[in-house]
Amino acid sequence: MENKLIAERAERTKWFNEARFGMFIHWGLYAIPARGEWVRSQERMTHEDYLRYFEEFSAAEYNPRQWAAAAKKAGMKYAVLTAKHHDGFCLWDTKLTDFKAPNTPAGRDLVKEYVEAFREAGIKVGLYFSIIDWRHPDFPHYGDRQHPLRDDPKEGNENRHFDRYLEFMHGQIRELLTGYGRLDIMWFDFSYNDMAGEKWKAKELMEMVRTLQPHLIVDNRLEGSGENSGTILTANPSTYAGDFACPEQMIPPAGIKNEAGEAVPWEACITLNNHWGYCQMDKHWKSAAMVIRMLVECVSKNGNLLLNVGPDAKGRIPAASVAILEEVGRWMADNGESIYGCGIANFDKPEWGRFTQRGKKLYAHILESQAGGLCLANLAGKIEKLRLLSDGSEIRLADFWNLKEYPEHAFFFLNPESADNYPLPDPADTVVEVTLKA
Ligand code: GLC
Repeated sequence: MENKLIAERAERTKWFNEARFGMFIHWGLYAIPARGEWVRSQERMTHEDYLRYFEEFSAAEYNPRQWAAAAKKAGMKYAVLTAKHHDGFCLWDTKLTDFKAPNTPAGRDLVKEYVEAFREAGIKVGLYFSIIDWRHPDFPHYGDRQHPLRDDPKEGNENRHFDRYLEFMHGQIRELLTGYGRLDIMWFDFSYNDMAGEKWKAKELMEMVRTLQPHLIVDNRLEGSGENSGTILTANPSTYAGDFACPEQMIPPAGIKNEAGEAVPWEACITLNNHWGYCQMDKHWKSAAMVIRMLVECVSKNGNLLLNVGPDAKGRIPAASVAILEEVGRWMADNGESIYGCGIANFDKPEWGRFTQRGKKLYAHILESQAGGLCLANLAGKIEKLRLLSDGSEIRLADFWNLKEYPEHAFFFLNPESADNYPLPDPADTVVEVTLKA
């Protein structure tokens, strides 16, 4: 008998599995030190040390319409903004703490502007919310796995009331679920050691989430993290198992299924350089070709790609990130049909690249050229037509003497004038649309 939670999850994530490509946005006080979003933990900063960034945070050039335009141009269909990261700094006008953007020189609710700008651009809106809060006095300090003051015996936890912290945490999530209209994703981060599941009163939290915004999809980190997916991988997930798994900085070798072999919605979250939050020194940018190939790999395994940008202290997405997104967008403009609404193919991965599929449309993503024609294994007699997706031009099946010994396979050349397929029309990924016979 089908599990009710799994059936509801499948319904809620339909748009997500169609969208395939989203923008992750890590932005907050940590953009000022510009050494990544964990800087307070890594450098064991005291509250007072970190407060100097609060007093300076101006969002001087914050323009979420520009962010939304960059996402739209890249072909992204949803976005997830860090409303609050582990440092506890809130981008919205929360009533439950003073550690918030309206109290900085920015002087306003930055989440409100974000949701309005992205909705206006037709992009679904998600919020990332850290269930860890290094600022809150009732969150464990001394001896915690990663609290900035974890090594300071003076920061003992005797007088910390974790239930009071949970009341604060649930209250902030309620604020976000009731104060910003229809949200599409709530991206919790993250559970660790015994800080997982019911430790967060996750059952009660999810009852609130499902009541206030029943359509909202939630990741699996009330239970898990990037290193442990939790009960979403079982045939009987908990009520707080989440609607999608979120492998981090990697793409699962064969996608993600639960113990019963049922598809689990999933999304790989990956940075453009090596940091989530702005890191001034980190110029190690992935190429647009790498991003395209990551996206295709995710979709070929029934997953999504949530690609991160880390705006700087002023609120600007780094120019290098914008340039990569623009180049990816040019490819998506020509080839987006092979991504949106597509998933794993009914055919084995080909030697020369990958397949994505949507019904009768099989998309051949050619990542390397091959001599003697590109082989569509075991597809002889099953193909209605081939088209180069980017320009719609006809590609004819090859019927040459040197292929006669392989009648079960279909072959084609991207350039019939040459005995190979070099150079590929698009070295990043040349997509051929294969229309299968009914
Ligand atoms: C990890 C990082 C966190 C980041 C998240 C994104 O949890 O610690 O900083 O926001 O990954 O998935």
